Amino acid sequence: MKLEFRENGPIVIETGGRYVFRTAEGERVVEKPRVSLCRCGGSGNKPFCDGTHKTNGFTAPAAVIEFDEGLVLDPVKP
Ligand code: FES
Repeated sequence: MKLEFRENGPIVIETGGRYVFRTAEGERVVEKPRVSLCRCGGSGNKPFCDGTHKTNGFTAPAAVIEFDEGLVLDPVKP
């Protein structure tokens, strides 16, 4: 699993095709190859990025964090 911190933007995660989104209201399976998570604090659709980082002055460096496959505790099963 890899977390890509985009320069001045969101955290992008390659999902492998789908992921489970859980909240207090329930859960749903989302069929998307990647998900972008807000790290600027400005999104109107948290935890997802809605592009607000492009206009709110957010700055942060790019970075990548990779996890060993053995560290994925709750993978989405096909
Ligand atoms: S990082 Fe995109 S809206 Fe916050």
